[in-house]
Amino acid sequence: MCGIVGYIGDKNITSVLLVGLERLSYRGYDSSGIAVISDGELSWWKRAGKIHELENTVKGLNIAGHIGIGHTRWATHGQPNEVNAHPHISGTPKVAIVHNGIIENYLDIRDLLISEGHVFQSETDSEVIVKLVEKYLAESTSLEHALELAINHLHGTYGLAALSETEPEKIVVCRKGSPIIIGLGDNENYVASDINAVIQHTKKIVYLDDNQIAIVERNNVRYKNVNGAFVEKTPQIIKWDSEAAEKQGYPHYMLKEIFEQPTVVRTILEKYVPSGNQIVFKDLRISPQIFKQLNRFIIQACGTSWHAGIIGKYLLESYARVFTEVDFSSEFRYRQMLTEGSEVVIAVSQSGETADTLACIREAKLHHFPILSFVNVKNSSMDRESDGVIYSHAGQEIGVASTKNYLAQLVCFLLFTLYIGRERGTITQEESDTLIIALQKVPEYISSILDKADQIKTIAEKYGFCREFLFIGRGLNYPTALEGALKLKEISYIHSTGYAAGELKHGPIALIDSKLPVVCICPSSKTYDKMVSNIQEVKARKGKTIVIATEGDTVIKNFADDVIYIPQMPEELTPIVSIVPLQLLAYYVALSLDCDVDQPRNLAKSVTVE
Ligand code: AGP
Ligand code: GLU
Repeated sequence: MCGIVGYIGDKNITSVLLVGLERLSYRGYDSSGIAVISDGELSWWKRAGKIHELENTVKGLNIAGHIGIGHTRWATHGQPNEVNAHPHISGTPKVAIVHNGIIENYLDIRDLLISEGHVFQSETDSEVIVKLVEKYLAESTSLEHALELAINHLHGTYGLAALSETEPEKIVVCRKGSPIIIGLGDNENYVASDINAVIQHTKKIVYLDDNQIAIVERNNVRYKNVNGAFVEKTPQIIKWDSEAAEKQGYPHYMLKEIFEQPTVVRTILEKYVPSGNQIVFKDLRISPQIFKQLNRFIIQACGTSWHAGIIGKYLLESYARVFTEVDFSSEFRYRQMLTEGSEVVIAVSQSGETADTLACIREAKLHHFPILSFVNVKNSSMDRESDGVIYSHAGQEIGVASTKNYLAQLVCFLLFTLYIGRERGTITQEESDTLIIALQKVPEYISSILDKADQIKTIAEKYGFCREFLFIGRGLNYPTALEGALKLKEISYIHSTGYAAGELKHGPIALIDSKLPVVCICPSSKTYDKMVSNIQEVKARKGKTIVIATEGDTVIKNFADDVIYIPQMPEELTPIVSIVPLQLLAYYVALSLDCDVDQPRNLAKSVTVE
């Protein structure tokens, strides 16, 4: 994961680097560091912990210099302490390296370098890179050449930025598997892991491709393929709403993002159902013929996006009648990819950068599967590498725990199912119209839940002291249980598990006692009666039940310690609405425990390592 930033130009170097790191901190916040060259001499500062620790260290130092690089780390190898923080520095002449990714063969390289007399300071995999550059710098003509020789040894993934005292007017960056962008300015240039770090300075962005190197100078950027010729790259002008990156009066990004959900649904409907009842996916770019003849969708994703994928499976199988498989990307990529001749791989990702999901896309491409991605971040690697894209249009999501993008993915899956169902003739126009009309009411339904924030806060405070939670649901709301449990554990560190309610009796029921809160997602549905039986099984064992039910359900309160009502709606829409009280529940529980809601421990928003 981690965020990389670099700058060459006349602005205040520490301010550009630190603000850039702050804006990348959702990528990792275990430690941070910067290296700056001033008067030909390289200096560096590193701190364990969040970026304010580094800010406090460099505040008042008046660091001079026109060139520097910085890093915010999500530790993969070695504890998140100061020694393991980046940049890693070589001996004289000094070189600084910041790295995003994992070097899988670092132990072999390290042993070899130690046998040649190199001394290592840290436990990280990344340090071998700087030692290799140090070694090759002695025999090469330039930093880029030394870096090229160094990366020839590396197995794994990297986004890298390097600075050297030997050439104090350039930053050299390269990538394989981890993103690097270059921001072009006037008499200044930037490098970063993603545009968030530089967008306040420039909207002219070049996306580096895998196995490319960029040599970034103040007035010039050259691009080359590793071990190959120089290449031309065309900058893109990025549209960006800087307002979206602010909290706008909310105490946390997560709360702001939860409250943005009615707007997100409206935006998606405007984009994909622009007039009347026709669903239009402008960037689908996969011919309807392929969907008509399809044997199977293969959905692959991680975390919250994987939960959205399971709901996608239920919808696609029920309404488009396509057999749909869902797998974790980290599993799918190492399984045998079998084909019956006509499959489409659907990758689901907020960031579009998740290493496991990206690797699946690449692997699936080698097997000639058409790739459709559901992504939120435009111009992300998945956006650029997929055959077709359905943008989730959630807007920038900064809270590490995904909320509005999950809900957006569900809406996109429903519209996509209707589109495919119509193409394949498995649903009528009338059925599709009925669901679209119902979908238009969803923003209102969500707002009605947001109005209950105080009630949900009270429930959260009542159970916040519990050390364990169970979430249960059935059918379309089984993934809601999984997602509700994930939200809670991510931000409150309470152990919580989601289960298919019918599975309760096969094991987890043993957990139930008078201290266990069980969150039951039980809106009106085909399996309502079965769900009520499962809730009674919990009650019979003295479990505490917090039930999400449909307004007008008078029976449920007999078995519920607390009920949160959602409006009446067709069953297909219930996962979109019933996740909202669970997001709020997780938020308020975390708040009552004084947890860092937006940057929970050990996590990062963009998981660019395996
Ligand atoms: C969400 O709350 C999580 N932090 C995480 O599970 C996330 O959904 C997962 O890492 C996948 O990310 P992506 O959607 O950007 O691919
Ligand atoms: N593997 C490197 C480390 O643990 C880089 C991790 C990252 O991408 O933040 O330091």
